[in-house]
Amino acid sequence: MDHILAIETSCDETAAAVLRNGTVILSDIIYSQAEIHKKYGGVVPEIASRKHLDVISQVVDEAIEISGVSFNELSAVAVTKGPGLAGALLTGLSYAKGLAFSLNKPLIGVNHIEGHICANFLIDNAPEPPFVCLVASGGHTHLVCVKSRTEYNVLGMTCDDASGEAFDKAARALGLGYPGGPIIDALSKEGNPDAVNFPRAVTERQFDFSFSGLKSALISYINKCERAGEKINAADVAASYQRAIVDALTNKLMSACNHFGYKKAALSGGVASNSTLRKKAAEECEKNGVEFFLPPPRLCTDNAAMIACRAYYDFKRGFFDDLSLNAYPGLRLNR
Ligand code: KG4
Ligand code: ZN
Repeated sequence: MDHILAIETSCDETAAAVLRNGTVILSDIIYSQAEIHKKYGGVVPEIASRKHLDVISQVVDEAIEISGVSFNELSAVAVTKGPGLAGALLTGLSYAKGLAFSLNKPLIGVNHIEGHICANFLIDNAPEPPFVCLVASGGHTHLVCVKSRTEYNVLGMTCDDASGEAFDKAARALGLGYPGGPIIDALSKEGNPDAVNFPRAVTERQFDFSFSGLKSALISYINKCERAGEKINAADVAASYQRAIVDALTNKLMSACNHFGYKKAALSGGVASNSTLRKKAAEECEKNGVEFFLPPPRLCTDNAAMIACRAYYDFKRGFFDDLSLNAYPGLRLNR
């Protein structure tokens, strides 16, 4: 049996998990710093790195203890190498390197975006590639053809803001707090999605996304209301804004499936925990005869289980990193 310990510290979650044979989650610990960053309206990189440093050994020890697997029984140590905040990534990376060195175990660096895709391999009845996966989170929005568990072909990506960033910026503009996605998701349930007609972006490439115009339209709308002395109905605005994002995401997901003839589609990333997106994508897939896959919300937002899962496929192929492994804040999934 293979046991991989993975560490994830790319943004404001300090996470560690132990997986057996790449799919059985023995432990999955997530320490969220959201409460700390809330008062600044977004993640403060310096504070994030310092907090990772404060809690990382406790989080890793807890993951090991709950898993019932000892440090010495581990097969490998995996860690997110990028993309993400430089200082935050380096904290997890240094810790993982220290562990791998002291335990004399292989080290495996994982691309965080590939980790999000692999969350789909942790669900019951996981999709067999090929399938189209929408990766929508705070830092990235990609439409990817998953050709195999380790081969990804980027069909499109955002030209500007990520979809999660669009949620976070809207919540800030409306004075609703941080992180914006879950707040707008909850508030939208009381609002009318037809209340405000927000624009749908047209992109040069068919499967790319653009969300910066939507954010500007929201700010113009808020300014216009303020100038006219009109009270803003935050629930209506949130619901309309959310619909514009969800429409863009689901439309492109479906048109990619139809264009390339894929019969399976999956979601991943923090925005994939949005209740309207989950529902709409499921409905659209059903209508189009596409099989739909969706990790539970806990595996959509940042976690280390998805990192361990991705690392397992490299472990099986003997693809290891050495101790010179660096953090790559701007690491991409290339087109
Ligand atoms: O994947 P993730 O945890 O971290 C990154 O890799 O960025 O995604 C975080 C993003 C944030 O922008 C957050 O607002 C968004 O995911 N998010 C949501 C929801 N839950 C988290 N967006 C919309 N609806 C949600 N329920
Ligand atoms: Zn993420």
